[in-house]
Formats: sequence, structure tokens, C-alpha cells
Amino acid sequence: MPKVWIEKLLDEPELYLLRIDDDQVKYFEATWDIPEGITYNAYLMKSDNVVVLFDAWKKDYADKFLEALSSIVDPKDITHIIVHHTEPDHSGALPKVLEANGYKAKIIGTAFAKRLLESLHGIKENVRAVKDGEELKIGNRTLKFIALPWLHWPDTMITYLVEDKIIFSCDAWGGYSIPERVDDSDEGVVERYLPHVTKYIVTVIGHYRKYLLENAEKIKNLGIVDDVKMILPGHGLIWHKNPQKILQHYANVGLGASKKGKILVIYDSMYGFVERSVEIAVDELKKLGFEPVVYRFTDKEALAVSDILGDVPDSEALIIGASTYEANVHPRIRHTLYELLDKANYEKPVLVLGTFGWAGVAGREIEALLKKSKFDHVGTIEVKGRTTDEDEAKIREEVRELAKRLGR
Ligand SMILES: Cc1cc2nc3c(=O)[nH]c(=O)nc-3n(C[C@H](O)[C@H](O)[C@H](O)COP(=O)(O)O)c2cc1C
Ligand SMILES: [Fe+2]
Ligand SMILES: [Fe+2]
Repeated sequence: MPKVWIEKLLDEPELYLLRIDDDQVKYFEATWDIPEGITYNAYLMKSDNVVVLFDAWKKDYADKFLEALSSIVDPKDITHIIVHHTEPDHSGALPKVLEANGYKAKIIGTAFAKRLLESLHGIKENVRAVKDGEELKIGNRTLKFIALPWLHWPDTMITYLVEDKIIFSCDAWGGYSIPERVDDSDEGVVERYLPHVTKYIVTVIGHYRKYLLENAEKIKNLGIVDDVKMILPGHGLIWHKNPQKILQHYANVGLGASKKGKILVIYDSMYGFVERSVEIAVDELKKLGFEPVVYRFTDKEALAVSDILGDVPDSEALIIGASTYEANVHPRIRHTLYELLDKANYEKPVLVLGTFGWAGVAGREIEALLKKSKFDHVGTIEVKGRTTDEDEAKIREEVRELAKRLGR
């Protein structure tokens, strides 16, 4: 059962978090396996005769959202609704909120959000498009709207509450999972949460990594992050004790800052042939002092591509093993590779281990794809059938070559 949290964050201005823990979702965006779930966070601010709602929840939880809202305020009294991003995980409940509100609230978003509110929800009355950097006095507070295009859609903006140094950030600085706290006050909760943030960044925003870096720079130049008091995202933990931690984590993932020694190994093996080559590579890696993290697709195991992607940013290098399947790359690796190159296209060294029965395709196909990407292709070894002593020697040599690229 999705749990609902209503937490007062501040007395002046009166500020509330409305969070629902979506433990029903299995595949975010109908794609990404998230057994860890996700939260949708909306916020409500009451101050000086204004009631401002920042975002909402997914449509599935519209009734629960109204119920939660109504425990703090009569929805008719909402004067402003800030729409940071119109993706329905944040905007789905809005039509019901507006109905309960009697369509009186002023709706504020970017010009792109205005268009999407109409096309997605038929909302067109009372919508005001704000410009990047525009400030609006609402009650006794100043709201500064900052466009963060492609984090995660072209419509996306964040709000900076000027007097209080608070950022409402929607998708930015969010993450997957259902943390057992609402904020970052417990170190243990934060440490357990951060890997889910990495997975979220890569799967949801990874395609727009360039904008992630550009927008981080933009925010920095605006001078609002150095002394920010709170970051209030649309998913996951809110950052009160140490907002710099999530900013730094996003920067690390954006840059692909690696953990020394971590090598990501991904392979398929139908009957154990690729596996043999991979075992040799893993053995050589360990001899060299690396710590391989291994994902395999076999007849007994198929781990989630979303988890594989989450392990890319902090890996130093990758090894991809694949069999040739009907004159192509094995379907599981084909799919993984497609997502990898699209969502986690980092400048990291990659070694390719292919095996085949009669005409090898997997190795050179993966090599061709890598050469068109940002990855640094180290080498390809194609093994015909079982791995011979000669193949083994070549594999060990290429692993040592990979290590050299990493300065070892
Ligand atoms: C369904 C299937 C399709 C295959 N298609 C090809 C192929 O098109 N070309 C080829 O050279 N080998 C092909 N093979 C052979 C495998 O690539 C080869 O046996 C490889 O060593 C398998 O490694 P694995 O058992 O670790 O998956 C195919 C094997 C299977 C089971
Ligand atoms: Fe989004
Ligand atoms: Fe979202």
C-alpha cells in the first residue's frame, strides 16, 4: 500500500511536503525495473493570504492527493499552482485538483509547459507562462523561476524561493526508491539512497547528460546553490542538512567520476562459452587488483538493464562479452548495448569479448557501435567455440592493456 507522508517543513512560510510512496510501480516509464519503488513529492506553501501548490502526484493517486491536500488546506483556497514539469508523474493529479479548486488558481510554468498542459490535460485557462529568470512576488515571498531545459523535458523549470534560499527542483536532484525518511538527516539513509539516485539519473536523464552538465553550470553561475538552505525534489529525499551532497553527487554522475578499481562486466552466455572467456578476464582483473562487478544473462539469470546502467557512471572501465546469435549480437546484449550507448555514453575504456560458432558477428558489431560512441574501444577478441590456451593468453593480454589505459 502506498504510504502518504504529510510533513511540515517550515513554520514561516508555512511549508509542507506531500509525499506518496509508490510501491506499486514496477517499470518506471514502462521500461525501467524499479523494485525499489519511487516517491512523488509535492509541496504546499501558505503565507500572507496565498496558498501555493508546487507540482502534484501521478494520476493513479489523484484521490489520495486531494485527501492529503485537504488535510492542510481547503483546495478552493489554493491561489497558485507552480508546474515545474508536465510529465504525468507530477502533473497527473492536477485536473482533479483544479476541479476541487473551482479553477480559480493561477497556474504558472514555462511557455513549453503551457503548451503541454493543454495537450496532455486540456488545461488552458489561467495559465501564465513565465520566462527564464523571471521573478514573481506572491504574498510576501519572491519566486524566481529558472528554466532547466531537458531536466527532464523541454518544459522543465525550477523555483528559487529568494528570501528563504529554497529550491523546488522537481526531477532534478531526485532519485528512485522509497527512503525511510523524508530528509537527509540520517547518514545511513543517505548512503543507501545514493545508488538509486545514480540509477535514476542514468535511466531518466542520461540521454540528456550534456544538459545535466550545462544546467549545473548555469545554476552555479546564478549563485543560488552555494548557500542554498533546502533542495526539495519531486522524487526521493529532500535535502536540508547537506544540500551540497546531492549537488555533488549529480555532478559526479554527470562527469562519470569513477570509483578506483571498479570494472563493470556484462555478458550473455547460452551454453557457457562466453562465460569461459569472461571468467579468464575477471581472473586477470582480480590479479591486477581490480574489483569486477559482474552482470550476466544466462538461462538462469537476467538482471535488470536499469541496474546495469546505474553501475556505469562510477566504473573505471567496462568489459562486454557476447555471443553471436543469428548473425547478430545476442538479443540481451543487443538491447543492453542500445540503452547503454543512449543513456550511459561515457568516455570509458571498453574491452569486447565475442564468441561464435561458425561466423563471428557479435564482437565486430559491438566494436563498430563503440567506435561511434564516446567509449574508448580497447580491443576485441573473437573466440571460435571453446576458449583455447591461445585465446586465454590473448584475453589476459588485452585485460592488461585495459589496465594500462587506466594507468596501472
Ligand atoms: C540460437 C543460436 C543462434 C546462433 N547463431 C549463430 C550465428 O548466427 N553465427 C554464429 O557464428 N554462431 C551462432 N551461434 C553459435 C554461438 O554463437 C556459439 O556457440 C557461442 O560460442 C555461444 O556462446 P554461449 O554458449 O556462451 O552463448 C548461435 C547459437 C545459438 C544457440
Ligand atoms: Fe520527468
Ligand atoms: Fe519525475
